[in-house]
Amino acid sequence: MRLRGRKGILESIEAQPELVVLDAAPHKGRWREFFGNDNPIYIELGMGKGKFISDMSVRNPHINYIGVDMYDELIRRASEKARNAWEAAHGTTQPPNLALLRANIEGIESMFAPGEVQRIHLNFSDPWPKAKHARRRLTHPRFVAKYIEILNELGEIHLKTDSQSLFEFSLNSFADMELHMRSISLHLHKEELRDDLVLTEYEGKFVERGNNIHRVEVVIGEQAIAAHKAAKRAAQIKDQAAETSTEDNEPSTAPTVTSEG
Ligand SMILES: C[S@@+](CC[C@H](N)C(=O)[O-])C[C@H]1O[C@@H](n2cnc3c(N)ncnc32)[C@H](O)[C@@H]1O
Repeated sequence: MRLRGRKGILESIEAQPELVVLDAAPHKGRWREFFGNDNPIYIELGMGKGKFISDMSVRNPHINYIGVDMYDELIRRASEKARNAWEAAHGTTQPPNLALLRANIEGIESMFAPGEVQRIHLNFSDPWPKAKHARRRLTHPRFVAKYIEILNELGEIHLKTDSQSLFEFSLNSFADMELHMRSISLHLHKEELRDDLVLTEYEGKFVERGNNIHRVEVVIGEQAIAAHKAAKRAAQIKDQAAETSTEDNEPSTAPTVTSEG
């Protein structure tokens, strides 16, 4: 087996500039030029070995995906995974709608211009359980404020985690910032495996172990909020209509009024 040293890993990712980005600064505000189109941009922060972002890019060719992680070796593995996934699905090893960005999320504002991103996926982010490390959690308000800056009018954050403490912290963070949340789940795959939602590497392992997966969608952009409110109103009207029709069909329990005095 050929083992790669650190130099070999760096050489490998440097040799893939069409897929791997090692310096985001020149692309800030210009990611559409990297992809050669105006399709929406979805990013995963902390993509690990890249299963989720690869599978998503294969499934949704009209969305541009950027997977971010800070380790060279993870970027290299993700590049292999993405090329294999694309070859199996579309017969090409050149994913046209995917970039793998080596960067520290701390500096996210230097990677994306305001409004450049439509969706942020946070999948199984490090929970940082000690209170003294709370500021490192990727759903700490100091990060969320940065996400709000880079999201566009349809912007949303989708979070999945097996960590109850991170989930609680995140919900509180979003609530304190008065953000709209929807589709909150404490046990995502309770009934059956939700394979309409692409699984991440960590998720696959946790589901096998029987851990509950928590999920929430945070609605940020103005148009996304308007659509969310309209959907809620439509659901309420449907519920009311269903209630009324049930009442109409129930036998009347009202006392019979007679005119006998
Ligand atoms: C627990 S793993 C989850 C990987 C993947 N999302 C999944 O669900 O399988 C968290 C990942 O986030 C990355 N990460 C953590 N903090 C980061 C930071 N500040 N900048 C970039 N990547 C980070 C780690 O390198 C790691 O790959």
